[in-house]
Amino acid sequence: MPSVRIIEVDLVIEIPEGKTLLQGALDHGLPFGFVCGGNAACGTCLVRVIEGLDSLPPRNPMEDFLAKAMLLEAEFRLGCQTPVGSAPLVLSIPSLSRQK
Ligand code: FES
Repeated sequence: MPSVRIIEVDLVIEIPEGKTLLQGALDHGLPFGFVCGGNAACGTCLVRVIEGLDSLPPRNPMEDFLAKAMLLEAEFRLGCQTPVGSAPLVLSIPSLSRQK
């Protein structure tokens, strides 16, 4: 199970391969923003992948559509649409900063 370090809360959690970043963070009680309920429509679940981007699958069509509309750089992913791969990750989750 890959480790996921989240810099805003200085925490390392484990998320099973294949589970989304959003669901994995919620399972650990992190107050991750997700206004649209995980439907790739709002962008509040935005994550910046600092390390491990190559281990993640490409954006699915729904994520790709919103990413293009938001002009997102490649290292920004939607937590609700991005499953964890097999490698450790280091993430920044901007919505966690806004809740401090
Ligand atoms: S929760 Fe709305 S885009 Fe991910």
